[in-house]
Amino acid sequence: MKFYLQVYGCQMNVYEAGIIRQILNRAGIEETENESAADVLLMITCSVRKHAEMRALGRLRMFSAQKKNDPKKIIGVLGCMAQRLGEELISEHDVDLVVGPDNYSVIPELIKKLQNGDAPGTVLSLTGECYSDIYPVAQNHATATVIAMRGCSNFCSYCIVPYVKGPERSRPLKNILLEIKQLIDKGIKEITLLGQNILAYKNDGIDFVALLRSVSEINGLKRVRFLTSHPKDLNEKVLAAIRSLPHLCPQLHLPLQSGSNRILELMNRHYTREEYLDKVTMARDLIPDLSLTTDIIVGFPTETEEDFNATLDVVAKVKFDFAYMFKFSPRPGTKAADFTPPVPPAEASRRLSELIKIQNQITLDSNRAMIGKEYELLIEAKSPRGKGSLGRTRHGKVVILDEPFTPGNLVNVMITEIRGWTPVGKIIRR
Ligand code: SAH
Ligand code: SF4
Ligand code: F3S
Repeated sequence: MKFYLQVYGCQMNVYEAGIIRQILNRAGIEETENESAADVLLMITCSVRKHAEMRALGRLRMFSAQKKNDPKKIIGVLGCMAQRLGEELISEHDVDLVVGPDNYSVIPELIKKLQNGDAPGTVLSLTGECYSDIYPVAQNHATATVIAMRGCSNFCSYCIVPYVKGPERSRPLKNILLEIKQLIDKGIKEITLLGQNILAYKNDGIDFVALLRSVSEINGLKRVRFLTSHPKDLNEKVLAAIRSLPHLCPQLHLPLQSGSNRILELMNRHYTREEYLDKVTMARDLIPDLSLTTDIIVGFPTETEEDFNATLDVVAKVKFDFAYMFKFSPRPGTKAADFTPPVPPAEASRRLSELIKIQNQITLDSNRAMIGKEYELLIEAKSPRGKGSLGRTRHGKVVILDEPFTPGNLVNVMITEIRGWTPVGKIIRR
């Protein structure tokens, strides 16, 4: 028996796709990249914005078309959108199995039951699952992600994640360390620890800084990163750990969301623009070569021109190295979905374009500032065009090399130019 798996969503989903592969492989079901050869067509989905769901539903129509030709095929929707839409996916979209983020272990059994003639069904209990002792099927050659915590209890008013992933819980330290050691044995050099709210890691008396300390002591590991830091939980202890522990990369993903105190309050973010700016100053004082990235939402309900300008002002002050920028998308069931008045879509689009234009220039300037400087690169892949390779600096910037290198190599380069958006490096021979 063979399965095909389409992956949508955040890095958590990319990681959890590896868990699903492991669970299916253990049950003797093999992966295929050829949809028409698959007995089971699966997708792991995202609900964070409407657009993410529309894409998945579009793909689902293609799965259904395949099933028309071959009615024995089984269609499964997994993950966050499965959790949110549930039964509706069976009644309206012809899906056979609908499995939430905490229930991946039951997939093989459900497939067997469906093949024995059982009716389509959902498994959507939020059990607090951590998949602690299931290690995902290998990801890349040089870098890997490892889940440290799952779920979220912050309830930012716009966000669906706490509803579809359940409350926040942390994975035991020993499983995290064992997984990282196994990855290093396979040649992995860099680990990104994942959690929706990773600074709140807490398991059996071990907090986030203690976790970082243990991870940084693992033999053979060259680089450690983590995602995502909530500004309210960022403190001097964490920053001192990044600065002093071996292998910790000088990089923080610190979602701003808005620069207006009134909007931040409505978003239930628990910090003000002043507190955010103070933490950025503290971070840059402690870690001088720090790279800062962020997420920003524009067009949140009631956002005025003045609120939007406050966001632009923080963007201009901080000069993020990179930002993910979104138009507010109302998610049914979240508080903000009922906030009024909404920002008219055309106005929200205008604000988003303006923000993107400003941030793009800042990102370009930050890339240009790399010219003439030396960096250590971890080679991650072949370059998509040409015979060169792609590597990443310790502070998280992708660099193009015109020479071919094997993923996993560490090389020293000097940045010579910017090609399009991307810095280009030349090897420094010592
Ligand atoms: N836990 C992480 C990831 C959340 S989802 C965090 O707190 O950053 C990633 C980003 O999607 C969020 O930071 C936010 O900027 C954006 N986002 C979440 N819900 C959204 C919504 N309803 N509309 C638009 N953007 C949203
Ligand atoms: Fe969503 Fe906020 Fe939790 Fe991030 S911290 S997952 S934005 S509720
Ligand atoms: Fe990730 Fe989307 Fe779920 S952002 S946690 S896949 S809602």
